[in-house]
Amino acid sequence: MSIPAGTAERVVPTTGGFRSAHQGLAERLACMHDELRREFPGVHRVSVAIYDQRTDLLKSFVDSSESSNPFEHTVARLADLKGLSQLAKTGARATIADLSAHVSSSPAHVRRLVKAGYLSSFTMPMFHKGTFQGFLFFNSFERGYFSAEVVQRMKPHAEVIALSTIMELDGVRMIQAAVRTVRQITRARDEETAAHLERMARYSRLIALRLAPRRGMTDEWVEFLFQFAPLHDVGKIAVPDHILFKPGRLTDEEFAVMRGHVGKGIEIVDTMADTFRLGAAPYVRILRNVVAHHHESIDGNGYPHRLGGDAVSLEGRITAVADVFDALTSARPYKRAWSNAEAIAYLIEQSGHKFDPDAVEILRVSEAAIADIQRQFTDDGSD
Ligand code: C2E
Ligand code: SIN
Ligand code: SIN
Ligand code: FE
Ligand code: FE
Repeated sequence: MSIPAGTAERVVPTTGGFRSAHQGLAERLACMHDELRREFPGVHRVSVAIYDQRTDLLKSFVDSSESSNPFEHTVARLADLKGLSQLAKTGARATIADLSAHVSSSPAHVRRLVKAGYLSSFTMPMFHKGTFQGFLFFNSFERGYFSAEVVQRMKPHAEVIALSTIMELDGVRMIQAAVRTVRQITRARDEETAAHLERMARYSRLIALRLAPRRGMTDEWVEFLFQFAPLHDVGKIAVPDHILFKPGRLTDEEFAVMRGHVGKGIEIVDTMADTFRLGAAPYVRILRNVVAHHHESIDGNGYPHRLGGDAVSLEGRITAVADVFDALTSARPYKRAWSNAEAIAYLIEQSGHKFDPDAVEILRVSEAAIADIQRQFTDDGSD
């Protein structure tokens, strides 16, 4: 069963959005789709869903369609998608000549495709070094479009699209691996548990998924934000131990040093982007915004630059709420854990001042999802 995680409406970003600002995979997919259509005019939709092994979640990632995308902002457990699970296991490709046949007994995702007008499909699982990465979906408004002959001729195009996707994800993994290495070297200095970062990333995704349609952001952007949210405090590795691990409240001087973690973090991101020659990669901007803006406030009283208003990126607004919510509900050497209700009350009090009101509102109404995340990632657990 597919779990709709937002509205299905398609919002086309006008200016300043993720798509228009960067040459991301979304644009490349649109270009490749255009090219594909010259030879295969019946391919009306190309879509990539990526797979997260740890959680068994299949997430819609990028999409190029002629009508609205029936799966925008959708997340589903692969185990619940019987046919697709089988393809992921065997590596087989599948064509469905008539999606509308037996539609009443079809899985929910097939019914959604039919509702959007698609009548046939070709599905290809993607693998990298033997590991399942996700799916490439091709759909047509025409019944029986994907004949054996068409599929055969499309194969090289499909491989190129799969490779582009995997390369894009590889760049992200490279940044993550670099950051993990830095963190491991300095592990003893890290007062925040892995569970804090896992929860904080999931709160960020929860907020981002629901804000994305309203703010014209893509699934690709949601995914990158989720991947990069745990790196918000990477600059803390430069904060001296006696401050970072102080069991009591910080003095003004100590807090001034502590605030320097944002500037240090930006330096680290920029150095990494240079070292790996990733400066032009669209997602580096997302990572940089997370690190640079997670302590800025929309009223302009945050740090380090007292930005305020539109100058605070959406990435910063979301991670600020997620970070503070998790910091408040966690015990730290200098404070007890607040209850969820106390933490939400604080977010509401600061809504419109410190925090983006929409981001706060989403957490306020997400009690069940928050409880799930807290159950899954506990501080004393193996995570
Ligand atoms: P952090 O623990 O990740 O906290 C992130 C943010 O959550 C804080 O940013 C703050 O906005 C909020 N927060 C955390 N605890 C509390 C609290 O008890 N009350 C309120 N109202 N808000 C809270 P902030 O203040 O810029 O702090 C940045 C980082 O500095 C913190 O990251 C933490 O590592 C450190 N820090 C802050 N205050 C203290 C302190 O009194 N003692 C120690 N040892 N470290 C502190
Ligand atoms: C799904 O089966 O849930 C996703 C299918 C798609 O994105 O086309
Ligand atoms: C971006 O860099 O992805 C754009 C951020 C925004 O529109 O807030
Ligand atoms: Fe921070
Ligand atoms: Fe934090």
